[in-house]
Amino acid sequence: MLAIRNLSIAFPGPDGPVRVVDGVSLEVARGESLGIVGESGSGKSMLSLATIGLLPRSARTSGEIRLEGRNILGMSERALCGVRGRRIGMIFQEPMTALNPAMTAGQQIAEGIRLHRAAGRAEARAEALRLLDRVRIPDPARRIDSYPHEMSGGQRQRVGIAIALALKPDLLIADEPTTALDVTVQKEILDILDELVADLGLSLILISHDLGVIARSTDRTLVMCRGRAVEQGTTEAVLRQPTAAYTRDLIAALPRRARAGLGAAAPLAAGDAR
Ligand SMILES: Nc1ncnc2c1ncn2[C@@H]1O[C@H](COP(=O)(O)OP(=O)(O)OP(=O)(O)O)[C@@H](O)[C@H]1O
Ligand SMILES: [Mg+2]
Repeated sequence: MLAIRNLSIAFPGPDGPVRVVDGVSLEVARGESLGIVGESGSGKSMLSLATIGLLPRSARTSGEIRLEGRNILGMSERALCGVRGRRIGMIFQEPMTALNPAMTAGQQIAEGIRLHRAAGRAEARAEALRLLDRVRIPDPARRIDSYPHEMSGGQRQRVGIAIALALKPDLLIADEPTTALDVTVQKEILDILDELVADLGLSLILISHDLGVIARSTDRTLVMCRGRAVEQGTTEAVLRQPTAAYTRDLIAALPRRARAGLGAAAPLAAGDAR
């Protein structure tokens, strides 16, 4: 479904181009979930923005991002519009910034449906209601007419997912979708993402700095460090038998109890005395 080959992304700097993504390759099959984990600034968001053709203008890229065979890099803006939303849905970390404060939840979900699927007003609203129900918003018939500021963080994130789903994408990219939420709501949002992969056969790229989130919701994991993919494999293998020193450090940095929850092998690294 998605195949990225040797992708590099650079920005102009005072001493020449600075590579923020450096030769990354990855694949995501239909119905599969890939976790991307790595420290802040390791290039996770740039990688995901490149995949939907939304990199800042100053970014320079090389390599390939193939979505069902077609290279996204070098696509015209017009062709990219068809890819965004309809093939790839994006869920952002802070839904307040992704949502339009001047439109109700229902209007924002229906907008995409009407634009991309030429649906009428009533049909789009009915579909928006169905989607709000699908992301398990309490009292969807009332929430459909709520504005973002009238909702909790968890409810806004559900609306964000419903907007992404409205165009029936094949691939969802969720960039730190639960970081701003408390643990209980985080679990509910991850449950919904798990369900979408299982029930609708969507592919999922889940970006998180939280190994617990990755362990719980992904089939395979890619570990990024300073723009490079330092480790890639089934999530179980990456957590149980990490080969890269950086991955071992990430796991070792977790509190003991969290590590036990991951089923991570111990001792994890030489000198790991905790
Ligand atoms: N417009 C830009 N111009 C120059 N450099 C940028 C620009 N946007 C991001 N960067 C740099 O690219 C690098 C990768 O950033 P990115 O946002 O992908 O990191 P990340 O892994 O998503 O981090 P986080 O976990 O904090 O979200 C960072 O060093 C950042 O400073
Ligand atoms: Mg980021």
